[in-house]
Amino acid sequence: MVNYKDLGLVNTREMFAKAVDGGYAIPAFNFNNMEQLQAIIKACAETKSPVILQVSSGARKYANQTLLRYMAEGAVEYAKELGWEHPQICLHLDHGDTFELCKSCVDFGFSSVMIDGSSLPYEENIALTKKVVEYAHQYDVTVEAELGVLAGVEDDVVAEESHYTKPEEVIDFATRTGCDSLAISIGTSHGAYKFKPEQCTRDPKTGKLVPPPLAFNVLEEVEKKLPGFPIVLHGSSSVPQEYVDIINTHGGNLPDAVGIPEDQLRKAAKSAVCKINIDSDSRLAFTAAVRKVLAEKPGEFDPRKYCGPARDEMVKLYKHKIIEVLGSDGKAE
Ligand code: G3H
Ligand code: 13P
Ligand code: ZN
Repeated sequence: MVNYKDLGLVNTREMFAKAVDGGYAIPAFNFNNMEQLQAIIKACAETKSPVILQVSSGARKYANQTLLRYMAEGAVEYAKELGWEHPQICLHLDHGDTFELCKSCVDFGFSSVMIDGSSLPYEENIALTKKVVEYAHQYDVTVEAELGVLAGVEDDVVAEESHYTKPEEVIDFATRTGCDSLAISIGTSHGAYKFKPEQCTRDPKTGKLVPPPLAFNVLEEVEKKLPGFPIVLHGSSSVPQEYVDIINTHGGNLPDAVGIPEDQLRKAAKSAVCKINIDSDSRLAFTAAVRKVLAEKPGEFDPRKYCGPARDEMVKLYKHKIIEVLGSDGKAE
């Protein structure tokens, strides 16, 4: 049993309370490799932003859970080396799908876990979430739950209202599970193809897709039911078109990739939304930089020569998100 407090990590409780009061959101960035982690920590140290490092099941399979946890432990020390005196870093399991997985992360030094029972029938979601909460809280590990299904073009589900979180369920769900934060569905979705072209309009000048707005009415209803309760948005990458263009002009093929406009995320961050999940944008920044170097310098074969620029690009991206979108800069001096 490893307790996250011994690793210098923090849970989300205080971060979220301050974010809800202060009208900003904590960045939740996924990482799978060293360059992503270095970039996240550098960006957060330079902006003094609290941060949630997210590890998905896919990341565990790709990089190995033990290695990722030691990397997060190292990240606290790296942050201090960079001059960040009091780093506020949370290590969080993203989309945990079983009690056993959540338990193993709690036992292994994670400071927060998500149990995603959103695809289960309501009562089963409650029972599973409650079981995880009861275990995690013994160790002061915070728990994120999810209610409502995120639409995604991957699984042929369009963003219909019926998939949005039902505000009339949130009080019962939060009370009976005891969860610390709640991910809701208001029209965001995972990946770089968040909307089908037929759900969007097109900008006549650029030909780019303009996505439909998020369901702020649902968010407002949820806030009314649970005043001050920490709300989470998944699937919140904006899919910067400059990266899509660099990828597409350097041998890639991402037709009609589209994300959530940043002004909508900025608006959400000012509300009870206090955690915003971003993964795809970092993948796009990384891929754009790598493709550019390899296309312009076909003789290059030293990974540091293309992973280095990719890391620099991710630092830029993360700082932009922190300062211009989430407003979390300066909140962890
Ligand atoms: O919500 C999903 C995250 O973007 C993680 O994605 O399962 O491919 O690691 P992944
Ligand atoms: P994106 O795919 O929009 O980056 O969402 C990431 C996410 O929600 C991780 O849980
Ligand atoms: Zn997610």
